[in-house]
Amino acid sequence: MRSVWLWIAVAVCSLCSVRSGSSDGFEKPRDTLILDTELMASKVSMVPLTLIQGADSKGAVCLDGTLPGYHLDHGFGSGANSWLIHLEGGGWCDNHSSCEFRKTTRRGSSKFMEKALNFTGILSNKPQENPDFYNWNRIKLRYCDGASFYGDSQDEGSQIFYRGRRIWQAAMEEFMSLGMQKADQALLSGCSAGGYASILHCDDFRQRLPLSTKVKCLSDAGMFLDAVDVSGGHSLRNMFQGVVTVQNLQKDMSSTCTDHSDPTWCFFPQNLVSDIKTPMFLLNSAYDSWQVRQSLAPSSADPRGVWKACKSDISRCNSSQLQFLQEFRKQMVLALNSFSASPQNGLFINSCFTHCQSETQDTWFAQDSPKLDGKRVAESVGDWYFDRTNNVKAIDCPYPCDKTCHHLVFQ
Ligand SMILES: *[C@@H]1O[C@H](CO)[C@@H](O)[C@H](O)[C@H]1NC(C)=O
Ligand SMILES: *[C@@H]1O[C@H](CO)[C@@H](O)[C@H](O)[C@H]1NC(C)=O
Ligand SMILES: *[C@@H]1O[C@H](CO)[C@@H](O)[C@H](O)[C@H]1NC(C)=O
Repeated sequence: MRSVWLWIAVAVCSLCSVRSGSSDGFEKPRDTLILDTELMASKVSMVPLTLIQGADSKGAVCLDGTLPGYHLDHGFGSGANSWLIHLEGGGWCDNHSSCEFRKTTRRGSSKFMEKALNFTGILSNKPQENPDFYNWNRIKLRYCDGASFYGDSQDEGSQIFYRGRRIWQAAMEEFMSLGMQKADQALLSGCSAGGYASILHCDDFRQRLPLSTKVKCLSDAGMFLDAVDVSGGHSLRNMFQGVVTVQNLQKDMSSTCTDHSDPTWCFFPQNLVSDIKTPMFLLNSAYDSWQVRQSLAPSSADPRGVWKACKSDISRCNSSQLQFLQEFRKQMVLALNSFSASPQNGLFINSCFTHCQSETQDTWFAQDSPKLDGKRVAESVGDWYFDRTNNVKAIDCPYPCDKTCHHLVFQ
């Protein structure tokens, strides 16, 4: 039953995107326009999965060897020649057994990916949900390599393919052939592990496009800090070290970093962001809920579970726990220092207990979305992308001062 509904949604949706791709629909008689608007409002946001045919001949495959995929909703009207590429997130695998397991999930195999996705927030095709990018060509590139589109190796013995870098290349070639080569504007974005991937690939994205194309990058929740956890250890550093080792990432890293530093150090975004030449916007919470839960207070660092309430609901942190989180925020602000000095870069660092604010409608652009300096996330990113205001750099006051937050609460 579920797949039948999905099929209907996909069928209706592809009809709509063909329609909106050919015209804005504004020259139609008024009664048909109302009908179309209603139809589109209810269905058009489900966008079908397309597999990249022939990617396997380039070795560009998911962990299990299946084809990589993406979802494309065509641009229309004044956005027909503009391209938004949004990289999906979903953590990493950091050892052989977790990568082997990942092959059996949508994060490691296109066999298990949703056949259609709802495009909301920065991916929405409605101006009232996404004021600046709604009529662009909008693509969500699926994440199935386990290392932020960065690896290029293979585990021969157990047939695990670590080919994120080739997936990135094959996807870029596909998008270029679909018209991105003639883009007049482009934005590379992504959330979480995908937000980190947009940092890693930002300058490469710039280089693939004509000089005349306006190109910028947005990283949402991709500033993973090399922080000390609640037990005094380095949980995230250990995880990143595992990712670097299992996929042999060191060989593809810039020698300007690896010549003087440890490859795991070179894999932390705080050590890369200020060297990016392309204009970049960092959207992040200074109390990023994923980092609090997985980097600062993972169960391995909190065996007695004294952080359980606090890491599920920031309002339940006691004063010493809150003090720990305030130190983390200070580290975040410090890590952004030199990045922030560049006039072409943008910042929206708020103090909400959350993770990924561009994909979800209620945090990107809704009536009561979180604000900084009176602007919602979509407005800040738009002002920065289109150079409507100088210096879009906002850093929130420490928790709990911000009353516009929608803090997440975990079970
Ligand atoms: C592999 O990684 C997973 C997830 O990070 C972890 O739970 C597991 O203990 C690790 N296994 C080994 C053998 O290191
Ligand atoms: C898609 O997202 C919109 C906007 O958030 C929501 O109203 C709608 O119910 C969603 N549709 C599906 C099928 O999930
Ligand atoms: C807060 O919780 C921690 C456990 O993380 C505990 O050690 C500490 O005594 C508590 N502090 C206060 C002030 O209650």
